[in-house]
Amino acid sequence: KSIEKATFTWQTPSNIALVKYWGKSNPQIPKNASISFTLNNCHTITTIEFEKKKASENVDFNLFFEGKQKDEFKPKIAEFFKRVANYCPYIFEYKMTINSENSFPHSSGIASSASGLSAIAMCLMSLENELSSGLSSEFINKKASFLARLGSGSASRSVEGPLVVWGNHPEIEGSSDLFGVKFPHKVHPVFENYQDAILLVDKGEKQVSSTVGHNLMTNHPYAENRFVQANNHLGKLSKILQNGDVKSFVNLVESEALTLHAMMMTSNPYFILMKPNTLEIINKIWSYRKENDSNICFTLDAGANVHVLYPFSEKEAVNQFIKSELSNYCQKKQYIYDSAGFGAKQL
Ligand code: PMV
Repeated sequence: KSIEKATFTWQTPSNIALVKYWGKSNPQIPKNASISFTLNNCHTITTIEFEKKKASENVDFNLFFEGKQKDEFKPKIAEFFKRVANYCPYIFEYKMTINSENSFPHSSGIASSASGLSAIAMCLMSLENELSSGLSSEFINKKASFLARLGSGSASRSVEGPLVVWGNHPEIEGSSDLFGVKFPHKVHPVFENYQDAILLVDKGEKQVSSTVGHNLMTNHPYAENRFVQANNHLGKLSKILQNGDVKSFVNLVESEALTLHAMMMTSNPYFILMKPNTLEIINKIWSYRKENDSNICFTLDAGANVHVLYPFSEKEAVNQFIKSELSNYCQKKQYIYDSAGFGAKQL
């Protein structure tokens, strides 16, 4: 089928890993399996206008972010198109105008690569679907996740929800290093509509890009044990998510966050990505948990911000605790209430 012009808009979420991906080999193959909650409120909305070109030697695109032309983001997207070109040869035939916006504040330290790249991948798959008419939604999601992975590994976990596994794991049927899959088991009700409040502790530029970070796991003295541990954690977490053992969830998720940071502290060069307020918040969370017999816990990405995780049943009480106490340790008292969501949506 020949198409002269087409426009597609997708909204795709960010995600937060419970078992972390840290360390990869080429081309974007993870050293261990990871699992994340797909988020609901933190998302990217991207529209791509495809217009057939006369000649088709190069990939040709323009990029607008929140209404303004953004040439500084172009190299990352150009690299993405280069990596996916083999799998989507049709991109050579179109001029693309990309318009993108995030629901969360720009450079807030919330990773936008997962939502940003999965949104572009979904738009490409919409064009592919029109060109070849009638691909199954299962194929579209799988291939979108495969393409997104080539841009940013964690982006492979931003197509579906509420729980996605990326990386081959013996206890997760259908799992693959090449794309994310929905967690295949029935989840205990306590983990339904799980809450995640993101506390913006430090909005500064990332000290270490994730590309550099992953590479630091090559020749890292603890790397091999870490990869084994992560896969063991995922096996355990799979059972916890099914049997509803929230206490074990809390223990495993916090251990994963601290291990991610421990890997950075013990690499060479080494990094400390937590800030004093990150530690203040962690200590407050621990006191609150003890005093209130709560199941609140935290996780961290490769930065200083804290994700506070808690069951839906504690939403009211914990939201109040965040507002009245934890927000004092955030930059400009900024935080975002979010919860586990369902993945990519065409608008
Ligand atoms: O997708 P990348 O290459 O930006 O790596 C992200 C890694 C972490 O966010 C730190 C952990 C994860 O699994 O999301």
